[in-house]
Amino acid sequence: MRDIIDRLPGSKIREVANAGMGRDDVLAFWFGESDEPTPEAVREAAVASLNRGETFYAHNLGLPELRDSLASYTSALHPAVAASRIAVTSSGVSALMIAMQALAGAGDEVVAVVPVWPNLTAQPAILGATVKRVPLKTHKGAWRLDLDALLGAVTERTAVLLVNAPNNPTGWTLTRDEQQAILAHCRRTGTWIVADEVYERVYFEPGAAAPSFLDVANADDRLVVVHSFSKSFLMTGWRLGWMVVPERFTPAVGKLIEFNTSCAPVFVQRAGLAALESADGFVPDLVQRLKACRDTLVPQLAALPGVQVANPLGGMYAFFRVEGQDDSLAFAKQLVAQAGLGLAPGAAFGDEAEGWLRWCFASRDPGRLTLGVQRLSRFLESIRL
Ligand SMILES: Cc1ncc(COP(=O)(O)O)c(C=O)c1O
Repeated sequence: MRDIIDRLPGSKIREVANAGMGRDDVLAFWFGESDEPTPEAVREAAVASLNRGETFYAHNLGLPELRDSLASYTSALHPAVAASRIAVTSSGVSALMIAMQALAGAGDEVVAVVPVWPNLTAQPAILGATVKRVPLKTHKGAWRLDLDALLGAVTERTAVLLVNAPNNPTGWTLTRDEQQAILAHCRRTGTWIVADEVYERVYFEPGAAAPSFLDVANADDRLVVVHSFSKSFLMTGWRLGWMVVPERFTPAVGKLIEFNTSCAPVFVQRAGLAALESADGFVPDLVQRLKACRDTLVPQLAALPGVQVANPLGGMYAFFRVEGQDDSLAFAKQLVAQAGLGLAPGAAFGDEAEGWLRWCFASRDPGRLTLGVQRLSRFLESIRL
């Protein structure tokens, strides 16, 4: 086996979850998904497809009708995007890997804004690239970009800049001005931007989506935008995503899809089409419900003594720290074992997030969040006694 694979750290979120999965007395908020199943109309579209016998290989780049539908969906949120720039992938994480396979090989430099969902930085490492981490800075519980530090880190030697905003785990979101400055800089250095915008619709500020690089870039800029059906359509288990790329790049992506997964399953793509058909009503409604969850959880967390937390503008996570708790993995394991509360340790997202905890607040029942805070509060009191 390659050394690099041997050395890859296992998921610390899984490490905590493995300690508590299967226990019904644990309230689990460790994974990045809602406890609500995919809408029925979407599930039925998949069932109907299977019943029609759509069980065969399909186009590498996705069903033409799904690519058309994704182009319309994207064009309604951002400047017009042609279907020829869309590639359907078997999940957002597969889209990220394909982007990385196309752009960064052994010895190449990738700059990543961190902390971030660990898959983003593991992928270039697997390919043999070196990852230079540019940390967000904390201020009163909120995370902010140090733009000068980022621009200083991206040079002519940087093949790819990886940026995920709205960010998992911190909720940090890029501003339009920051996007413009980053794009202008990357044009000068010849660096590709891989923008993970899977949470663009899970955005609580005015507007239908968080600021996107698609709003500021030209169609032929070195930009790959990665999306997923997982978060805004409650479809984590379906493994369906897509990417928006410059048209000249589409054939290369088609080849890589062939060698990775060959195509997304047709019945899953039919489900994706049904999701897009109901997007205008479904997504804003989901975002309102997620906002209610955020507004239930964050103020209650903020009211606990010694807790530092900021209101995330986007994403589905409250990211917080508890004074005196500097080992997030040990603390998260203790919370599972002794308080029946399942959270993700900050260390899972990089050393920069050590001492923090991530709480996914996407829940059908905001009452579960209140119950979770009560458990945390009781536990903190018990260790202070
Ligand atoms: C930042 C980020 N990017 C990408 C993904 C991947 O989404 P999926 O592979 O489910 O489409 C996730 C999932 O948690 C994520 O948090």
